[in-house]
Amino acid sequence: MAKKNILCIGAGYVGGPTMAVIADKCPDYRVTVVDINQSRIDAWNSDKLPVFEPGLAEVVARCRNRNLFYSTDIPGEIKRADIIFVSVNTPTKTFGYGAGKAADLQFLEKTARSIVEYADSDKIVVEKSTLPVRTAQALSRVLHANTKGIHFQIVSNPEFLAEGTAIADLESPDRVLIGGMETPEGRKAMEEVSAIYENWVPKERIITTNIWSSELTKLVSNALLAQRVSSVNSISALCERTGADIDQVTAAAGRDKRIGARFLKAGLGFGGSCFKKDILNLVYLCEHYGLPEVAAYWEEVVKLNDYQAKRFVENMLGAMFNTVADKRIGVLGFAFKADTGDTRESPAIAVCRQLLEEHAELFIYDPKALENAKQDMIGYQKVHFCEDPYDALKGVHAIVVATDWQCFKDLDYQKIFDDMEKPAFIFDGRNLLDRKKLFEIGFNIYGIGKKPLTKF
Ligand code: UDX
Ligand code: ADP
Repeated sequence: MAKKNILCIGAGYVGGPTMAVIADKCPDYRVTVVDINQSRIDAWNSDKLPVFEPGLAEVVARCRNRNLFYSTDIPGEIKRADIIFVSVNTPTKTFGYGAGKAADLQFLEKTARSIVEYADSDKIVVEKSTLPVRTAQALSRVLHANTKGIHFQIVSNPEFLAEGTAIADLESPDRVLIGGMETPEGRKAMEEVSAIYENWVPKERIITTNIWSSELTKLVSNALLAQRVSSVNSISALCERTGADIDQVTAAAGRDKRIGARFLKAGLGFGGSCFKKDILNLVYLCEHYGLPEVAAYWEEVVKLNDYQAKRFVENMLGAMFNTVADKRIGVLGFAFKADTGDTRESPAIAVCRQLLEEHAELFIYDPKALENAKQDMIGYQKVHFCEDPYDALKGVHAIVVATDWQCFKDLDYQKIFDDMEKPAFIFDGRNLLDRKKLFEIGFNIYGIGKKPLTKF
């Protein structure tokens, strides 16, 4: 008999990997993941998982049908659960009041209503999705509007995993944050959630706070990380004007322990489902609470990010004699970062769309993200998706590196150069490739925050 039944509602990038690791580390808990999307659940039950993450398939193979189950029986699993993790999508609102900034909480509220409808015993409900501060209050009100006398304890347990390293992040987290109500029942619920993680996370890494601090910490952590990327990208523009080199600047600045070396890589800008959404969420909250100066400060992080992709395309145009019309451009990478097939908010989308507006013809290659790329580029003409990098780059006028996939370093650039139109250009939006070597082959190479190496 399982110690406890854990249910996760939402089988996406967060719920899927998180529950797989919980099942793996806690063999005496029964873990079920449900979703309204039947094909997603079918994929979790198949050999082709709906999410690509290094190491995930192995964890799922160990646990599936042992103590890890995927199902669409939402009513039955809600009834059975002791602890319910809510991990549904909370995108930025695209309509009505707060559109473009506030979080769209309709999926969360619908989930809460399902819990109320089907639950027939007390439950702990855990917020896993990123949410605006004080969502727990709204959730509590929806849950407690039931007339069945059932009690729900709400706990906030934000997820800090990064895609591409999700399994490693879950197995060895810097911290696990658990926020709850400051009542005896609230503390007991936090202890129950903590007990899950204590199966593999050292206790000193499990932090407990009040629920509002926990909700806000998730937004703040992402905002601080995104702000670092925008700060570095802003300086990359200055480097290009002054002859300084961004990698030299960040390597030297990052040696100061107070600054730290990580997360200082200049590039096309941040993507992913969290950073932009969470900052806009923070901006909305600040405006809502009458703090326009604070809101404007954080909004600038997003504006700078948009500017970085725009600036990159402008630099391309300038280098390619002010026109890319009818020129063929090979795009290496479409995912928002390496080691994931996820393209949500990928800067590649903005770059490709701008190039198409300039009437270029695009040939896109990505080792894992081609299916998502096709969806992102629906409605656009003159865009081709290639299963092989050499097909994508054959006969092109220019190459764009949009994602930092390490495998792009190992391509045969002499062969690629020989097959390209001349002059041959590389625009390395991730400062990934060996510039000197490429220049020696004959390429004109442009990076981010670096002096271009050109034959002109
Ligand atoms: C992020 C947070 O890191 C994670 O803690 C949170 O749970 C979810 O959001 P993720 O979006 O998966 O994770 O990836 P992350 O590694 O943070 O990268 C985000 C974006 O920033 C990527 O597009 C990446 O290419 C870019 N980035 C990151 C840089 O441009 N430079 C850097 O130095 C680091
Ligand atoms: P994240 O990156 O936050 O994990 P995803 O979009 O990858 O977000 O996953 C969220 C999942 O939640 C989707 O698979 C979606 O179908 C599911 N979902 C949304 N609303 C509900 C609901 N009311 N009940 C069950 N699952 C839901």
